[in-house]
Amino acid sequence: MDVFIKDISKYVDKTVTIKGWIYNLRSSGKITFLQMRDGSGFIQGIVHKPDVSEKTWNDAHELTLESSAILTGKVSKHPKKDEYELQVSDIEVVQVAPEYPIGKKEHGVDFLLDLRHLWLRSPKQWAIQRVRNQVINATYEWFELNGFTKIDSPILTPAACEGTTTLFEIDYFDLGKAYLSQSGQLYLEAAIMSLGRVFDFGPVFRAEKSKTRRHLTEFWMMDAEMAYCDHNGSMEIQEQLISHIVKKCLENCQDALSILERDVSKLEHITAPFPRMTHADAVKLLQEHGSDIKETEDLGADDETILTQKFDKPVFIEKYPAEVKAFYMKRDPNNDGLALCSDLLAPEGYGEIIGGSQREDDYDTLLKRIKEHKLPENAFDWYLDLRKYGSVVHSGFGYGLERIVGWVCGISHIRETIPFPRLLNRLTP
Ligand code: 4AD
Ligand code: MG
Repeated sequence: MDVFIKDISKYVDKTVTIKGWIYNLRSSGKITFLQMRDGSGFIQGIVHKPDVSEKTWNDAHELTLESSAILTGKVSKHPKKDEYELQVSDIEVVQVAPEYPIGKKEHGVDFLLDLRHLWLRSPKQWAIQRVRNQVINATYEWFELNGFTKIDSPILTPAACEGTTTLFEIDYFDLGKAYLSQSGQLYLEAAIMSLGRVFDFGPVFRAEKSKTRRHLTEFWMMDAEMAYCDHNGSMEIQEQLISHIVKKCLENCQDALSILERDVSKLEHITAPFPRMTHADAVKLLQEHGSDIKETEDLGADDETILTQKFDKPVFIEKYPAEVKAFYMKRDPNNDGLALCSDLLAPEGYGEIIGGSQREDDYDTLLKRIKEHKLPENAFDWYLDLRKYGSVVHSGFGYGLERIVGWVCGISHIRETIPFPRLLNRLTP
């Protein structure tokens, strides 16, 4: 019977067949151990010379690292551990792989990224993709449970959403320049006037010249947008969503998190509500810790790292100086210099995972901001229309999938959280 390794506990003492790849192997005397993975999990196959045919014994020795093979055998439970083994009785060699370039020794990350198409098979990379998948599913699930409709925003756009310095430009037939989307937000603002609460999920592009552990040039963003929702209402939704995602990862990714040696005690108390702090208070705290940040400045990566080491939950930093934030953010009615916005910073030094704000809903004020930011007015005609026909208080936010996965997995650089990373100096494989 063909089975997946993830279901193996149901087949103790039964004979099963597993189709996969050999990711490790060793022999000693009359025993050969074949470590097999099948995409759903990992298992050790044991070939015991006295119990198998000569052909099977020889086949076991033909196998190399990353050869593909089909193993048949009886499932047994490890006497002490919660692990299962396969007492192999038959081997079908599918393909014998030549010497595999990724060995057991330590490799440099550039070498591994050049071989990303193969590196993806290693248990750690498998585990990261399992967590990524769970973060995505938990996100869809939370939105479904909370009355959001998924809206697919376009990738080819006529103008900037998040500032003109990070736009990827392309030639668009006779229509001149087009740009790869930095965020679907503006389109979601149109969609909420039809559907109330919406979200999108897709690749976005930033021509970031930054070579940090938090930046990719292509990454996956989830934008959410809510009609009749203010800045505070939006933060409540964010903390509920993030708590749900972490809970689901803890429930459904135990195997992956254990391969990653993640200290799950750091995730177990990630429950709403999350602490909040104004940008002004954050600056004071940072200055006390020796940062030279000024009240009018955005937080740098180092500032975020310091702040997030102070809290054991994600923390909202609210009300940044308006001049360091995007044109569409509504200003604080009590202080016109501040934006009604928040960044959510993940603990343990991970930093910003979400950016969000209440949106400017007044036509004249928004037009003024578009002019102040020297944005092309005609490209924003449609966006201004939304402030003409039934404008309402509304807010939204966007998360960076890779930043969340990096935090949940406890890995330092987000390039490992996306199957094929695109960086300033990397476009292959
Ligand atoms: O803070 P950002 O720039 O916000 C927006 O784009 C808003 N339009 C979202 C919205 O309100 N709907 O980006 C949102 C998130 C960041 O918090 C971060 O997690 C991630 O996207 N992010 C990046 N992730 C990887 N590489 C980059 N270069 C990123 N830039 C932003
Ligand atoms: Mg941001």
